[in-house]
Amino acid sequence: MLLEKILQSQGFGSRKHCQQLIKNGAVSIDGQVISDVKFKIAEQQLKFQVYSKEYQYREHVYLALNKPQNYECSHQATHHFSVFDLIDELLLNRGVQCIGRLDQDTTGMLLLTDDGQFLQALTHPKKHVPKVYQVETTDPISQAQIEQLLKGVELRNEKGIYTASQVKKLAENKLSLTIHQGVYHQVKRMLAAVGNKVIKLHRQQVGLLDLGQLEEGQYLYLNEQQIQAAKNQSESIQSLE
Ligand code: URA
Repeated sequence: MLLEKILQSQGFGSRKHCQQLIKNGAVSIDGQVISDVKFKIAEQQLKFQVYSKEYQYREHVYLALNKPQNYECSHQATHHFSVFDLIDELLLNRGVQCIGRLDQDTTGMLLLTDDGQFLQALTHPKKHVPKVYQVETTDPISQAQIEQLLKGVELRNEKGIYTASQVKKLAENKLSLTIHQGVYHQVKRMLAAVGNKVIKLHRQQVGLLDLGQLEEGQYLYLNEQQIQAAKNQSESIQSLE
């Protein structure tokens, strides 16, 4: 592929801008400055430098972010920050999108990608990837509430019933809950439906991908195994370490 096209595909800007980068001697491969705009090279596994910073060619990017509180999953955040403020500009230029949404006050695992097929596969209503949340409530969680969550509850303006496939009580006011759907405010509404109230919500796991020790506000690139784990198609739980 032409080097200028590679640069463009990786988010370095317009074709003209990428040509200019090459002409200016800003781009090098293996320490060798490439100033020929007609330069071609195989893109797979390619490492290159722009203004001495090292980059790796990626056909698509798959990111996992530990979302902090007070960040919205929209580009035009109105009352809070946007999660896109946390992401490198090159990735934004590539059109990285959130896979599903978390509320502004929910923390934890948010996946992002520029791969439309992957995004569709994970957000399609028929694809039921499990999501594990840690929930803190105002009132102590009763056994009856746990049973109701497992049996399923109705949510206003939504068809069908909404069940948790697993509920583990972690403390008087804390539980871990696994759901497979993803309607608006689902966990908060499910807890409200059983007579409790969520005061803190954190997503620890999507599919078999676990947030691990990734710090709030930080993100990383998923590797092949982690991508499979996010789709719940991995052999085992993959942690983000
Ligand atoms: N359920 C909610 O209520 N909020 C979220 O952010 C995610 C799931």
